Amino acid sequence: MRPFEGRRILLGVTGGIASYKSAWLARLLSQEGAMVDVVMTKSATEFIAPLTFEALTGRPVHTALIAQGHALDHIKLAKAADAIVVAPATADFCARAAHGRADDLLAAILLATEAPVLICPAMNDRMWAHPQTRLNSKHLREIGYGVLDPEVGALAAGEGSGEGRMPEPETIVAHVARMLDDASFKGRHVVVTAGPTRELVDPVRVLSNRSSGRMGVALASAAWRRGANVTLIAGPLEIAPPVGATLVRVETTEEMSIAVQRAAANADVLVMAAAPADFRAAEMATAKIKKGSSAPTIELTPTPDILRESAAHMRAGAVRVGFALETNNGVANARHKLESKSLDMIVLNDALEPDAGVGVETNRVTIISRDGSAEEIPLMLKREIADIILDRIAAHLE
Ligand code: CTP
Repeated sequence: MRPFEGRRILLGVTGGIASYKSAWLARLLSQEGAMVDVVMTKSATEFIAPLTFEALTGRPVHTALIAQGHALDHIKLAKAADAIVVAPATADFCARAAHGRADDLLAAILLATEAPVLICPAMNDRMWAHPQTRLNSKHLREIGYGVLDPEVGALAAGEGSGEGRMPEPETIVAHVARMLDDASFKGRHVVVTAGPTRELVDPVRVLSNRSSGRMGVALASAAWRRGANVTLIAGPLEIAPPVGATLVRVETTEEMSIAVQRAAANADVLVMAAAPADFRAAEMATAKIKKGSSAPTIELTPTPDILRESAAHMRAGAVRVGFALETNNGVANARHKLESKSLDMIVLNDALEPDAGVGVETNRVTIISRDGSAEEIPLMLKREIADIILDRIAAHLE
């Protein structure tokens, strides 16, 4: 199921240059299943045409507090929304919202709604830095609205770079999803590992594997959406890191091991979705190994087993989850790993199955628990599997 299926999101657009990005935001929300009602301030319509949003959402766009024959639009729209996001929110809109003004449709809706509200300020960096703007955004937070600080980056033409850019639409969508979630992991610290590790053989060559990091990233973003504090410890990823998680980048298995020990000490959950390299060169060559006449022999030595060692660093009652990537005797091998690494749960995937395992968007897994149960999950998107795994972890936490 798409994350916003059956949800009604009210997208408020105010008159800033970042409103061109709001078109993409409206599209993303619609693609994820939301019914999107766009409400624009008058100045927003000077930056971008209402027709653009109408075409993207397939719904009428609202611009006036008192439209012909629709005097109560603000009440109806405010009531119908499951969540409200204002992106971009200009300095002027932040000031008006902070003071409870109701002088246009969008400001009036904020007063009339009981839905959660996310404000995404975007403006010139000096305007954002102004003490009055800061007071307004502090005030908006005190009222109970979420306020997503603008990011540092290129501003409108001629203004160089500074703190004032609207976050990317994908980031805003992730925040709206977290705001709508029932927050079953609120107050929990979840540590997830993702991707491969890389062991240098010589200054230019590495030992690694084909893991892309997709499963770990899907788990980290789903845990964050469900309200957890998430630490993602990742080797080189093929995809963008998730929104919200604290990201710790590592290269080798040894580095991943140190990072996990540090983070797992106060964690409620550890999910080792990474594929750490099991071996490294016993000695790394300090110069590039030349081809010569015969192939070189590289002596290997094992790296630490992070998951096995983590038991000693974690609190009693913490849930430890492993993955098993197998080519044959999957269930038996996975059960053996679950026992030998004293895990609560292991997620088995078949390395030889097409459309599942490393490097693809989908996976087909079997979830094996300490109580002996083995649950076969049909082929589905990794982000859907992440939610099923987190449901099972939540049951263990209880
Ligand atoms: N793992 C780990 N540290 C390693 C290797 C693996 O913590 N050095 C973790 C993986 O993240 C995974 C689990 O252990 O959660 C099982 O990994 P897998 O590669 O399937 O098994 P191994 O224990 O490495 O055994 P083998 O390679 O012989 O199948």
